[in-house]
Amino acid sequence: MKATFKILSTALVLLSACGGNPNSGSNSQSAEDRFVDSVVNSLTLKQKIGQLNQVTAGQVEEMEALAASGMMGSILNEANPQNLNRIQKAAVDNPPHIPVLISRDVIHGYKTIFPIPLGQAASFDTALVRQGSEISAVEASSDGIRWTFSPMLDIARDPRWGRIAEGYGEDPYLTSVMGAAAVRGYQGNGNLSKPTSMAACAKHFVGYGAAVGGRDYNSTYIPMRQLRNVYLPPFRAAANEGVATYMSSFNDNDGVPSTGNKLILSDILRGEWKFDGFVVSDWFSIGEMVNHGFADDMKHAAERAINAGLDMDMVANAYKDNLEALISEGKVSEKTVDNACRNIVRIKYRLGLFTNPYISTSQDVKYAPAHLAAAQKSAEESAVLLKNNGVLPFKNFKKILLTGPMSDAPHDQLGTWVFDGEKSHTVTPLVALKDAGYEVNYVPVLTYSRDKNLSNLSKAIAAAKTADVIVFVGGEESILSGEAHCLANLNLQGAQSQLLEALKKTGKPVVSVIMAGRPLTIADDLNNSDAMIYMFHPGTMGGPALVNLLSGNVTPSGKLPVTFPKSVGQVPIYYGQNMTGRPASGHEVLLDDIPAEAGQTSLGCTSYMLDAGFGPLLEFGFGLSYTSFEFSDFNINRTSFSGENDEIKVTFLIKNSGNYDGAEIPQLYVRDLSASITRPIKELKAFTRVFLKKGESKKVELSMPLSSLKFFGLDDKEVLEKGKFTLWIANSSNVDKAAWKCDFEVK
Ligand code: GLC
Repeated sequence: MKATFKILSTALVLLSACGGNPNSGSNSQSAEDRFVDSVVNSLTLKQKIGQLNQVTAGQVEEMEALAASGMMGSILNEANPQNLNRIQKAAVDNPPHIPVLISRDVIHGYKTIFPIPLGQAASFDTALVRQGSEISAVEASSDGIRWTFSPMLDIARDPRWGRIAEGYGEDPYLTSVMGAAAVRGYQGNGNLSKPTSMAACAKHFVGYGAAVGGRDYNSTYIPMRQLRNVYLPPFRAAANEGVATYMSSFNDNDGVPSTGNKLILSDILRGEWKFDGFVVSDWFSIGEMVNHGFADDMKHAAERAINAGLDMDMVANAYKDNLEALISEGKVSEKTVDNACRNIVRIKYRLGLFTNPYISTSQDVKYAPAHLAAAQKSAEESAVLLKNNGVLPFKNFKKILLTGPMSDAPHDQLGTWVFDGEKSHTVTPLVALKDAGYEVNYVPVLTYSRDKNLSNLSKAIAAAKTADVIVFVGGEESILSGEAHCLANLNLQGAQSQLLEALKKTGKPVVSVIMAGRPLTIADDLNNSDAMIYMFHPGTMGGPALVNLLSGNVTPSGKLPVTFPKSVGQVPIYYGQNMTGRPASGHEVLLDDIPAEAGQTSLGCTSYMLDAGFGPLLEFGFGLSYTSFEFSDFNINRTSFSGENDEIKVTFLIKNSGNYDGAEIPQLYVRDLSASITRPIKELKAFTRVFLKKGESKKVELSMPLSSLKFFGLDDKEVLEKGKFTLWIANSSNVDKAAWKCDFEVK
């Protein structure tokens, strides 16, 4: 009670500076600004610097002392509510009585684990992504976590990069709408002061996914126009959604580490996007500017970071140890520190921490049935059917031979970046198939994804004789994707492909299920499977989701959010590339067809690989269904448009012409045929999910504002250019198979 009184009295003192009612704002300066200014103006320089300091969890007594000293603006990696209340009390009871911002990596769930973000992107269901983030916030905030380092908005076009798992894939539009949905879900659907909300964090700002060679932390060389047109849009969408924080990325882009990059942290983020939250560094990334060779020492790194606009120092102690000296030496102005402190206090105010700093440790919402149901729905919608020769859904199969290293892998099924989800709550395919009443003969053969020991192969082959169907569940252990976990070879690990090949030879139908954190090079495995379902690490309820998909209770509807290469030699490969001056025709001569002593130019001179052709194994937006859909009756509102507020609307009919209820995801792609700079051969600009019972038809509208045709051109200005465009309505980015194509013009 005493502590609460203290914070309330402090808040009241400070609020009185705002004229009492915290919501009054009729004067020129809002109540929020008045409150924030009153707090910051009441602080000593040391206390201001304390707000810029984020520490990682340690002995609770040490954390209490640091909080009491006012040098803990934020803490991460502590999730014990009792400890957090103790730390919070120490901060609130002692000057300057400012609550600590408690943070954690809640990336795809807190206790209830959802599919990894790359999987959630495959659902093309923004409402479900928002719901998942909202549930994550409800569970995490019940333990006192009020700030998550999510969503990750890095465009990733290189599956060698382990962190492709954590984002929403290769496309700027899909990543933008998914990221905005996640921000909305975390941040209380626009009400950040709800005690069940969390401040979100748009990371890693910016360009981190373009690491050279797909090797994490490596340099990136993204020119300004590509930064503007490909890598920045999702972060801009997060700003438009009101994201509370950003995190600077580890990479140096074209020689400048993001953590010290004024152009992105100040000029673009605040100057152009009017962002008024705060920017936190990534783990020790201020200190890493010394490694980069961008700072002489930690003090110089602190100077370069704060002057670039980096507000909070994650665990480097660079600000805590150096800012006072830098100010006294005139290298950093106190105003700069004031602004950083103001940004941080503003977010604490919006979170309601000044009036509600503590958590009630009585509520327990973790693993609530509704949360598990949402996680299962997310896992169902995130699954992508890559092949099906008719073996799915199960007809009268009762006896299942279940094999493969991910069949009963409760830890690995959860995927990367899971600190609080417990594997004891994971429902694996083995458990779920048994619960569903199937007669399961479980012969894993391989006990983990990298396992090369096939000594039990004969047992599986023998077991196949009495099985109606073989279900192989393989993929990657969770440690093989995520931060610092990059791969030069994307084939299934260990002896999984050999196992599949042997299973195929039994002549029994083989259904493969892959649980991975990235696209893998699975061409041979597809050939050895009668059907394949790709479940990017599906989370806690992956097992029941899979059973619903195999049995046909749910029809797969996922679409690939990232291109699958034929081989790692094709990487980077993505659908939104430029046309080039010599686009592949699709009729190129491939390796095996090259005649002996072929003439120098006899094979044609276009952009392709002799041993891989031009296209990928599976394209962005691809995904099969158990049913079939027919698109018809297309109409476009006009074919001539002008002005960015104009809107293109395409209506059409979709019919479920097959035998199963299911959802389709019609996609709208556009190409700018000729512009002041070369433009992508196609860009996703709209999509929707349409659920149809078998035989049902629905009228659908896909629309896009003309403003979405804008791009940053030669003079680094965003322009909508006049000219001719082509639009497709398709069910994947393979527009050669589009249901409809239409040319239009911007005048
Ligand atoms: C890590 C990651 C970042 C994470 C942070 C805190 O190094 O790069 O995504 O949020 O540190 O754990």
